[in-house]
Amino acid sequence: MRIRITVLPGDGIGPEVITEAVCVLEAVARVFKHEINFTFKEIGGCAIRQHNDPLPEGTLTACLEADAVLLGAVGDPEFDNYPTHLRPEAGLLRLRRGLGAFANLRPARLFDSLAGASPLKSEVIKGTDILIVRELLGGLYFGEPRHVSDVNGTREGINTMRYSEPEIERIARVAFDLARSRRRKVTSVDKANVLECSRLWRETVTRVAQDYPDVKLEHQYVDSCAMALVARPASFDVMLAENMFGDILSDEAGAVVGSLGLLASASIGGPVGLYEPVHGSAPDIAGKGIANPLGAILSAAMLLRFSFQLDNEAAAVETAVEKILSAGHRTRDLASGDQQFVTTEEMGKHVTDYIERIG
Ligand code: IPM
Ligand code: MN
Repeated sequence: MRIRITVLPGDGIGPEVITEAVCVLEAVARVFKHEINFTFKEIGGCAIRQHNDPLPEGTLTACLEADAVLLGAVGDPEFDNYPTHLRPEAGLLRLRRGLGAFANLRPARLFDSLAGASPLKSEVIKGTDILIVRELLGGLYFGEPRHVSDVNGTREGINTMRYSEPEIERIARVAFDLARSRRRKVTSVDKANVLECSRLWRETVTRVAQDYPDVKLEHQYVDSCAMALVARPASFDVMLAENMFGDILSDEAGAVVGSLGLLASASIGGPVGLYEPVHGSAPDIAGKGIANPLGAILSAAMLLRFSFQLDNEAAAVETAVEKILSAGHRTRDLASGDQQFVTTEEMGKHVTDYIERIG
């Protein structure tokens, strides 16, 4: 197969982890006899520095012309005081919208060998295997009006949580469809006891569920869900959430399974899929060679599966990660106490070598 991937390393630890993910994809291409072409472009802070725009025209065009997009991270404290449209994050939001990627899939599964890396007791996390389905193009992130303005001499900030029924319906269908290939349970997250927007969410999800009588639906308020996620994480299968709730709960899920550095994501629904680790740019550890590349590597596996239906190739990457972890290799975020840890590059090399060996 011939595959064209646009790669956006971005900011902070983005370039380091993406280098490893690209090496893994190159190994997959060698072993499984595919041809992968990579085009590298700027996004986020590095794009602002070079082009004065967090998503330059050429970057969006290259993404729309590719078969899939692999992204590292965006975010740089240098731009903290810049206006919204000139912040690194604005580039990512415009990219998601430009790609029509409304469905963000974030799996959080416990690797057995990492039970000791979680801050929670191993009997609590045993069997945790969650798929967070986060709506990605609506809610507070995109709702209008949004601004800080002067109201009679006092500054006032406003954002809008807004969802139309069709927007809720299409993400709910993604969650129910995916539940059918898993344990057939959907937990829909909202704050329907307070927010009108959430009441429409709950009503719409309940209606969509009628088309899926074989899938069990439960509703949870977001605050109670945040608690249940640490108290009994193994009770969740598919967790369906609006944009902001999904953002918050996915970081929490990362800690539950041992480290946010492990979490991968796929943003699908439009013509070109976008794949990125869930962690951010982590400027405090950037350039030190200690970032965990597994979130980026597992995002590359999702890319193979969702954009190209290369299930064997994706499984090879996932198995490699699982084996490398059970062999005891740890990046710093996964190491406990005085446990030895490997660098970003060494971890990537372990995965690449494993894939080459099965070839
Ligand atoms: C994520 C990130 C982004 C988000 C930021 C960088 C805009 O936190 O992908 O979870 O909030 O969606
Ligand atoms: Mn986030």
